[in-house]
Amino acid sequence: MEFELRPIKAVPPAEIDFDSLGFAFIPTEKMFVARYAGGKWTDHGLIAVSEFWMHPAGGALHYGQAIFEGTKARLTRDGEIVLFRVEDNARRMADGCRRLMMPVYEEGKFVDAVTQTVLANKEYMPTADQGAMYIRPVMFASGPVLGVKPADEYLFLVFVSPVGPYFKEGFKPIKLKISKEYHRAAAGGVGCVKAAGNYAAGMYPNSLAKEDGYAEILYLDVDNKHFEEVGAANFFLRKGDELATPSLDDKTILPGYTRSSVLQLAADEGLSAVARDVMLEELYEADECLCTGTAAVITPIGLVEVDGKEVTVGDGGVGKYSQIFYDKLNAIMLKEAPDKYGWVMTIGKK
Ligand code: PLP
Ligand code: COI
Repeated sequence: MEFELRPIKAVPPAEIDFDSLGFAFIPTEKMFVARYAGGKWTDHGLIAVSEFWMHPAGGALHYGQAIFEGTKARLTRDGEIVLFRVEDNARRMADGCRRLMMPVYEEGKFVDAVTQTVLANKEYMPTADQGAMYIRPVMFASGPVLGVKPADEYLFLVFVSPVGPYFKEGFKPIKLKISKEYHRAAAGGVGCVKAAGNYAAGMYPNSLAKEDGYAEILYLDVDNKHFEEVGAANFFLRKGDELATPSLDDKTILPGYTRSSVLQLAADEGLSAVARDVMLEELYEADECLCTGTAAVITPIGLVEVDGKEVTVGDGGVGKYSQIFYDKLNAIMLKEAPDKYGWVMTIGKK
């Protein structure tokens, strides 16, 4: 390979406390690498999880050409290893690459790279009750640039780590803080793609929310009129039999696959499941609010701080439908309920 590698010592599975996994990187054995240079992708396949040197003028370092994905492998109770809607991650990364002028890594090959990486690290799969194997495909500009333009060289990596819940509360209602000062995205920007810079921009407002005892920021649109999303998850609000989530029309919100799955499950439950502007005032009348994402799965929202006041959502507990979506989604992901929509892909056995 044309870049220097320094392998990172994997933590042997026997030394991992799988019963108390959080959401932090644990080095496993293998990662997948492909490199783009000379106008084409070359797969280097699975190598030891390694550090590598980068060119100091690498485009990702100063102009932020970097994008990632997040998906999970689960272990069914029959010992099968399954992926959830991974083709959708492949498509979303390809869309993001086009927006950030990065070279698309072909979608079928993306799925294959994810599959290979999971299977090569299968000794690290937590059981269904312990958590999941989180999969992080990432692409960034490694080639040198000085003027603002797309780089000529890129790396695409896939690494994995066993994880437990994203929010330390687990499946318990979280407290969120609305910020009228900080915003995540504006129309025409890159809110709808998993650009690494979106997450850098959120760290400061998020740290303020955490200092005040909240799990995350709940973002509004730039005019502070309607909800957008949470820093790492989509937002839903239910009143009666309508379940609403902010629409994707302005391209300010990440089109989450847990979001679209929940819209489908809600319709199956007989709710009116809609994507529309969800106004801030609706919070005061909501029966329940929740957020959704690969890492967050279904997380109920018990309380929201807005303008210095705390608003309890519903009765502050786990909402009726949050529980239903959580149970149904988990059952589908673990092949314990029919996979009516073809969301689950079995890739092997542990
Ligand atoms: N919104 C943001 C900003 C995210 O980072 C994520 C996580 O990927 C989501 C929403 C949820 O998307 P998904 O359900 O596809 O994981
Ligand atoms: C995911 O849910 O997979 C995400 O990418 C969120 C992440 C920023 C932790």
